[in-house]
Amino acid sequence: MGRIFLFMGIQGAGKGTQAIRLAEKLGIPQISTGDIFRAIMKQDSPLGEELRAILNSGRLVSDEFTSQMVKDRIAQDDAQNGFILDGYPRTLPQVEHLDQMLAERGEKIDAVLFFDLDKDEAISRLANRRVCTANSNHTYHLIHNPPQQEGICDIDGAPLKQREDDTSEAIEKRISEYVNQTFPVVDTYKQRGIFHKIDARQSIDDVTRTMMEIAEK
Ligand code: AP5
Ligand code: MG
Repeated sequence: MGRIFLFMGIQGAGKGTQAIRLAEKLGIPQISTGDIFRAIMKQDSPLGEELRAILNSGRLVSDEFTSQMVKDRIAQDDAQNGFILDGYPRTLPQVEHLDQMLAERGEKIDAVLFFDLDKDEAISRLANRRVCTANSNHTYHLIHNPPQQEGICDIDGAPLKQREDDTSEAIEKRISEYVNQTFPVVDTYKQRGIFHKIDARQSIDDVTRTMMEIAEK
């Protein structure tokens, strides 16, 4: 049976940065609900417009739609040997949806990795984040992980940009949604004995080392 990891933490804690590294190491997909929504936003469709309005204001997408996206994604071939969920579940109804999905598949969560970071550092990371316009997995930080050439991706030479929801208003709203909706989810997993807290203030490589130690257990 495959291994299933959940990545949780405040916006900017480094979930995406680290999930991509673990996914590569284990050969399982990193499934980010935010990435799924941004991919739909790229298509010019009424659904894309609807999602753009929600994401850019920092609100959460509905539980039903989000869970359906996850259900469809984990049904794909590459997810049959495990997967990493980055940013899902983040409400209590989503916890229930996931429990049900996994029960139907006869699977269970191996570990919940909680990336612990304070709000001020989170806000500063988001303000300094730049993403590649060709591949959003290529993420930079202007101070901690800058590209070699300003404004250009090291990997494919495409221009870098700020994420559309990294405005001060949307960041504020995302963090308040996190405190109100996602904190209770953290508590739920703490009680299940599969919860691991990682100090996300460490350098990117140090966080990776801590994460790998947990994942290898
Ligand atoms: P999503 O895309 O998940 O965004 P988020 O929750 O705001 O989280 P981020 O991606 O901003 O943070 P991250 O932890 O991945 O940080 P990163 O690694 O990039 O969701 C977007 C939206 O989609 C939501 O607002 C909502 O509308 C919707 N959505 C998604 N999931 C949903 C769900 N389940 N239910 C309902 N709606 C949902 O790192 C940040 C920066 O810091 C980068 O610049 C990076 O280089 C840098 N950095 C990373 N680690 C370190 C380190 N250790 N030291 C220094 N710098 C670091
Ligand atoms: Mg992310």
